[in-house]
Amino acid sequence: MNFNNVRYERSFGTSSQLPPSTMPEISFAGRSNVGKSSLINRLFNRKALAKVSGTPGKTSTINFFEAGDVRFVDLPGYGYAKVSKSEKGRWSELIEGYFNQDRDFLLVLSLIDIRHPAQPLDENMIAFLQDAELPFAVVLTKADKLTPNKQRQQKAAITRQLDLGPDVPIVVTSSEKGIGIDELRKLVSAEVRN
Ligand code: GTP
Ligand code: MG
Repeated sequence: MNFNNVRYERSFGTSSQLPPSTMPEISFAGRSNVGKSSLINRLFNRKALAKVSGTPGKTSTINFFEAGDVRFVDLPGYGYAKVSKSEKGRWSELIEGYFNQDRDFLLVLSLIDIRHPAQPLDENMIAFLQDAELPFAVVLTKADKLTPNKQRQQKAAITRQLDLGPDVPIVVTSSEKGIGIDELRKLVSAEVRN
């Protein structure tokens, strides 16, 4: 997998607009502001491939990026309280609509802020991925906000909390400082080769 070769494809505002999946897809799911778009940028060493903002709710569409024979999918975040009911409805339609389609899900990266326990909506997301038997990995974000010791503690606590089986990878990352990015690239590359 070549992380120097990526291009933005298209954005979609409703799940019915999504074209059938013509390529295996690696998607990024998680709460608003957890760092999905930042992680995509960091993986590809691109500053502004995916739109990032300090204000939660930045990504409001499903965005497709093509990298070789794989598609990367930046999803809107869930759980942001401060948007209108109709926006919230549109986002959950997008996220649920995406996962309920018959798509070529190669890997779902489920992002969780390393500083806190997984929130109820994170637990729902993981339960859905487990029930649907989709291939997924947990990515803990913003590790630069904790000491290495605290990072290890939180990784263990969240692994316990989510009852992740031994075959679910959990990677500690920081898009800001580059922590865990090579590990995540390897994990992604291993999926792509299979
Ligand atoms: P939505 O599109 O709103 O769902 O958010 P998102 O999950 O795509 O988050 P985004 O990448 O836009 O980042 C949200 C904020 O977190 C921005 O201010 C980022 O700069 C910050 N951020 C992302 N990753 C990291 C990280 O590794 N460390 C730190 N300290 N900040 C980060
Ligand atoms: Mg985003």
